[in-house]
Amino acid sequence: MLPELKFAHIKAKLPIIQGGMAVRVATCRLAAAVANEGAIGVIAGTGLSVQRLREEIQRARKMTSGYLGVNVLFAASQFAQLVKTAMVEKIDFIVSGAGFSRDIFAWGKELNVPVLSMVASARVARLAEKLGAAAVVVEGKEAGGHLGTDRSVFELLPEVLEAVEIPVIAAGGIMNGEDIAKALGMGANGVQMATRFVASEECEANVKFKEKYLHSMPEDSVLIDSPVGLPGRAIRNQFTERLKNGERLETRECRNCLKNCSHRFCILDALEKAVDGDVENGLVFSGEFFHRIKEILPVRKIIEQLVSEYEQYRCKRSGTQ
Ligand SMILES: Cc1cc2nc3c(=O)[nH]c(=O)nc-3n(C[C@H](O)[C@H](O)[C@H](O)COP(=O)(O)O)c2cc1C
Repeated sequence: MLPELKFAHIKAKLPIIQGGMAVRVATCRLAAAVANEGAIGVIAGTGLSVQRLREEIQRARKMTSGYLGVNVLFAASQFAQLVKTAMVEKIDFIVSGAGFSRDIFAWGKELNVPVLSMVASARVARLAEKLGAAAVVVEGKEAGGHLGTDRSVFELLPEVLEAVEIPVIAAGGIMNGEDIAKALGMGANGVQMATRFVASEECEANVKFKEKYLHSMPEDSVLIDSPVGLPGRAIRNQFTERLKNGERLETRECRNCLKNCSHRFCILDALEKAVDGDVENGLVFSGEFFHRIKEILPVRKIIEQLVSEYEQYRCKRSGTQ
C-alpha cells in the first residue's frame, strides 16, 4: 500500500501532491478533484489577481474537505500579496519556487501556515530547513515550467535526503506508479506530479492545450529562456521556434507581472494564450515525459491507475527478490 504523506499538520492518505501550474492550468477544480481522492491539490496563484486567488481558494474549499495548497512563484511581482492572501484564507500550506524567499517563513509563522520550498540542490534544501520549511520539493530537469537545474531528480534526491531531516518530495518526470515506487524506494516521502494531471477532465485548460500533450513527439520537449531569467521546459510549437530563431515578439501592454523581467517576450501573455487554446502562438509549459500520456482521464481514474501500477510494481519486485 502507498504510505501516507505527513508534514506539519498534514496527513494525506496518498503521498502525491499535484504540482502548481500557472497560469490557470491548476485551478480550484483540478486541485479539489485531486484532494478528493486522498492526494493533495495545489492551486497556482501566479498570474492571478489577489481577488481571483481568494475566489479560487473559497471555491475549492466548497468542492473538497481534503488538503489544499497554493503555489506562488517568487519571481512574481505580486508574490507577497498572493502568499499572504492564501495564508489569510487559511490554506493548508504554501509552496514557492523560481527563486528563494526568506520572508515567506516569517509570514508562515505569523499566520500559522506551513511553507514548502521547491529546491534544486542540497544547499538550498538545507537553507530552507534552517529557515523553517515544513518540507522541500526537490525538482529535477524533467519538470515542466521553470527549472533550477539540469540534473535529474533521481540524481538530486539522494543528496537532498542526505542534507535534511524534514520530508522530501520528489518532482519532475514522475508519470506512473513505477516512478512513484522508485522515488519512495530511494527514500522520498512523496512525489509531486503536474504533467500527468494536465491531461485530466478536471484541468480547466482548453482541450487544445491538453491535446498538445497527447499529440506531440518525445523530441518536442524543448527548453526556452524565460524572461524570469531561468530556463523553462515547454513543448515545441511555432512560438518556441520563433524564440529560437531570435525573432522579435510583439507584446501587449506590460502588466509588470515579474519582479525582474528580461522583456524578451511577455510570459504572462504567452502562457494565457496557450491555456486558452492558442497552442501555436502561446507557450505550452510541460514536463519532459508528456508523450507517455495516452488519454485524458478523470482525476479519479488517474489516481486509481497510479495506485494499481505502484502495487503491481511492488508485487513484481517482491516476487523477484
Ligand atoms: C503547465 C505547467 C505549469 C507550471 N507552473 C508552475 C508554477 O506556476 N509554479 C511552480 O512552482 N511550478 C510550476 N510547474 C512545475 C510543476 O509544479 C511540477 O513541479 C513539475 O512540472 C513536475 O514535473 P512533471 O510535470 O513532470 O510531473 C509547472 C508545470 C507545468 C507542466
